[in-house]
Amino acid sequence: MSAQTKLRVLVTKAEIESTIKKLAAELTRDYHDKNPLVIGILKGSFVFLADLVRRLDFPLEIELVRLSSYGKGTKTSGKVKIVHGLKFDVKNRHVLVVEDIVDTGTTVAYFLDYLKKKSPASLKLCALTDKPSRRRVPVKIDYLGLTVPDKFIVGYGIDCDEKYRNLPDICCLEE
Ligand code: IMP
Ligand code: MG
Repeated sequence: MSAQTKLRVLVTKAEIESTIKKLAAELTRDYHDKNPLVIGILKGSFVFLADLVRRLDFPLEIELVRLSSYGKGTKTSGKVKIVHGLKFDVKNRHVLVVEDIVDTGTTVAYFLDYLKKKSPASLKLCALTDKPSRRRVPVKIDYLGLTVPDKFIVGYGIDCDEKYRNLPDICCLEE
């Protein structure tokens, strides 16, 4: 990253909060009586997941999985690995995957495919942000927060080389 790299706020903390409120209302309508298994994809979704589940006032269980598709910096390697795998049973469970950003779609498409083979009762995806301009693998986002432009974003859990996850807003990096 060069010395000229600047951060520009793309989505404010307040906008994120109202987006999460809207998503929580949709999820409450659909899952209040289903005791879903909510699976957060680490590390990027940790802030989103924490804020989202605190607005869900019904029984649910949480699991975390660590996948990796990106090497260092801002370019995808195109390969997906389950770094920290599933130690829980998804068979006959209502599974909701929570992701920070769907970019090319590679990571989440791979993971959804992996889960589908384990016979969940239902399988849905909730993503805070979507960057549809970069899609390479088709992905159905059942619960979508925000569509973002084709810029590299950071903040609110999302990183660049492990930095900026602690920013309260979603920002884009500009050279
Ligand atoms: P995909 O496999 O290309 O859809 O990428 C998914 C993962 O790449 C996300 O979970 C993010 O961790 C990371 N990623 C994609 N776009 C960005 C970005 O703009 N900023 C930071 N991380 C990103
Ligand atoms: Mg990530």
